[in-house]
Amino acid sequence: MTEYNKDNPFPAKIVERYILNKEGSTKKTYHLTLDLSGSNISYRPGDAIAIFPENPEEDVNALLSALNLSGHEEVTDPRSGMTLPAAHFFKKKANLIRIPTPLLKLTGDADLINNKDTRTQFVANHDLIDFFEHYPPTIPLQELISYFAPLLPRFYSIASSPMTHPQSVDLLVATFTYCHGNKKRQGLGSHFLCDTAQMHHTPIPLYLHPTPHFVLPEDPKAPLIMVGPGTGVAPYRAFLEHREAEKASGTNWLFFGERNRATDYYYEAFFESLQKKDFLRLDLAFSRDQEEKLYVQHLLLKHGAAVWGMLQQGAYFYICGDARQMAKDVTEALHTIVETHGEQDPKPYIKELRKTKRLLLDVY
Ligand SMILES: Cc1cc2nc3c(=O)[nH]c(=O)nc-3n(C[C@H](O)[C@H](O)[C@H](O)COP(=O)(O)OP(=O)(O)OC[C@H]3O[C@@H](n4cnc5c(N)ncnc54)[C@H](O)[C@@H]3O)c2cc1C
Ligand SMILES: NC(=O)c1ccc[n+]([C@@H]2O[C@H](COP(=O)([O-])OP(=O)(O)OC[C@H]3O[C@@H](n4cnc5c(N)ncnc54)[C@H](OP(=O)(O)O)[C@@H]3O)[C@@H](O)[C@H]2O)c1
Repeated sequence: MTEYNKDNPFPAKIVERYILNKEGSTKKTYHLTLDLSGSNISYRPGDAIAIFPENPEEDVNALLSALNLSGHEEVTDPRSGMTLPAAHFFKKKANLIRIPTPLLKLTGDADLINNKDTRTQFVANHDLIDFFEHYPPTIPLQELISYFAPLLPRFYSIASSPMTHPQSVDLLVATFTYCHGNKKRQGLGSHFLCDTAQMHHTPIPLYLHPTPHFVLPEDPKAPLIMVGPGTGVAPYRAFLEHREAEKASGTNWLFFGERNRATDYYYEAFFESLQKKDFLRLDLAFSRDQEEKLYVQHLLLKHGAAVWGMLQQGAYFYICGDARQMAKDVTEALHTIVETHGEQDPKPYIKELRKTKRLLLDVY
């Protein structure tokens, strides 16, 4: 049993990190290995790791400057009760992007206070640093920081099996940039893990985030249909490593998708070797290798009769990755398959699949 949790995270080190995309790719997705030795953390395939990122040094310095602070001023973290220097609090404990509404209300700016549209617009285009540049604070530092939103952990699906990696976890992390007002920003957690944290050196505060439901079936003979474009493939690498180590005899069918085959086929050697051994059926949707988009749900529909056949044999159907569109589209494809090949109303069938925990989603 581990002593590490959300309030007492384990300081892991990154022991391996490399980019999974090949030269010429339009994406930057990384494979990372974090060393868990000494943590007593034990995990199951399907679990995730929660990581507390750090704010970039330049944001911390910009905020100190906007507040006219040296950074050595002591503050008490309102959540943990720990006393620490302001610079440390800004780096590790505070959300420096989001401007909390109560702070906006302290400005005395009538339009900002009374007009919801003005407030929404302001928050969408400014961060906390911009805010204090516009509205220098008039209250003591300790009171001021009590309004700050906390820096929340980021979750990453574990991409390794505890049978093959008992003392470490592999992760698959996508990096990206976005615009906030006139600032170009990088995703905080992904940038911290993939770029700023130094390998073998920077402590990565983490704890286990066990999945409540996204687990392998108890029966090793049960067939699996796994749908996971992009980083959604991460838990399936764990599932497949685990099923191989356990010598599970159930059929494994993976639907993976990314932008281009030549540059974005993550873990190609691993998946191809499993396919060669007849341990895995693999269907690949590279969306940008042709004029028309090709997505995982198009392949599900193409092989609808076989998908229906596997469901009839008791297959478990997993969906992992993007929640905003992919998961909805894949679920819709599943409805179509049940209707077309099962010749029945898909709603009660799919409701039953969910109830019996044979349709499992891990989407974000
Ligand atoms: C259970 C679970 C498992 C997860 N597993 C993985 C995983 O295996 N691999 C993985 O990479 N992520 C995974 N995520 C997502 C991950 O937790 C973070 O949300 C993601 O890394 C973005 O966090 P960030 O701190 O880098 O970006 P933030 O700084 O939090 O994001 C800033 C802004 O960018 C937007 N944004 C977020 N992601 C993207 C994107 N990809 N492209 C463009 N804009 C974006 C957000 O809407 C936000 O407005 C998982 C999430 C959950 C809940
Ligand atoms: N603004 C945001 O908040 C934002 C933006 C992007 C991603 N994200 C999140 O970040 C996660 C990480 O992204 P990722 O790197 O894993 O890749 P991703 O963006 O999920 O893309 C992986 C593959 O899925 C394809 N895809 C796009 N829409 C799809 C759909 N409706 N159905 C099926 N496939 C679809 C993509 O094709 P194309 O790219 O060619 O269309 C690509 O080939 C995503 O899962 C998502 O939750 C957030």
